[in-house]
Amino acid sequence: MKGIILAGGSGQRLHPLTKITNKHLLPVYNKPMIYYPIEKMVQAGIKDILIVSGKGHAGDFLNLLGSGKELGARFTYELQDEAGGIAQALSLAEDFSDNERIAVILGDNIIEDDLSEEIKDFEKGKFDAKIFLKEVEDPERFGVAELDGDKVIGIEEKPKNPKSNYAVVGLYLYTSEVFDVIKNLKPSARGEYEITDVNNHFIEKGKMGAGFIKGYWTDAGTFDSLLRASQLVKENAKD
Ligand code: G1P
Repeated sequence: MKGIILAGGSGQRLHPLTKITNKHLLPVYNKPMIYYPIEKMVQAGIKDILIVSGKGHAGDFLNLLGSGKELGARFTYELQDEAGGIAQALSLAEDFSDNERIAVILGDNIIEDDLSEEIKDFEKGKFDAKIFLKEVEDPERFGVAELDGDKVIGIEEKPKNPKSNYAVVGLYLYTSEVFDVIKNLKPSARGEYEITDVNNHFIEKGKMGAGFIKGYWTDAGTFDSLLRASQLVKENAKD
């Protein structure tokens, strides 16, 4: 299985912190933000990792992360020329993934759980995609799952009236089928290719699995969530 970390975007919600650098290079407690998704993948045995970043600061990612040797990984880099959404960024990983199954983590997601077992299960399993849910107090900031018991029957992106408190975490597992789904997507009202549309496709086909994150999870793309991310990492740091 190969890993993909999506680290593009303009980081608008963090201006002026992101005026001269990329969001994913900002500190979360004692490490640059992007270290966390990288460490999650390495912990789960995924070493071949593609980093997709935006044009402005690609050189900084290379300077910080290099070949990956220091972090126990092997990095490949890809550039997203313009901010066209998460699904568009993911489409750039088609050649890299080489028809293998992929794990995708959004570069601003901080996940506590060890993902090894989930990833092993997905490799053996019958689903073409898998998402992960976490109960939150502010679901309207995220993709939100509509549930029927334990089954996800749909996802709404940043709904005004969320149908549950279960946010869709920025961790997705896919077969190479995902690249065909992305090719048939239409841009959303905000002009982006949405990962939620990709996931709804797999739900409609009955090919989507769903799991729950047990430990802490946060994104780090707003001032409050960035602060919370640092606090969570510090409070849970093992010495
Ligand atoms: C993205 C996804 C959303 C998901 C979130 C997780 O939103 O579109 O579905 O819940 O990541 O962090 P963003 O925060 O990039 O707007």
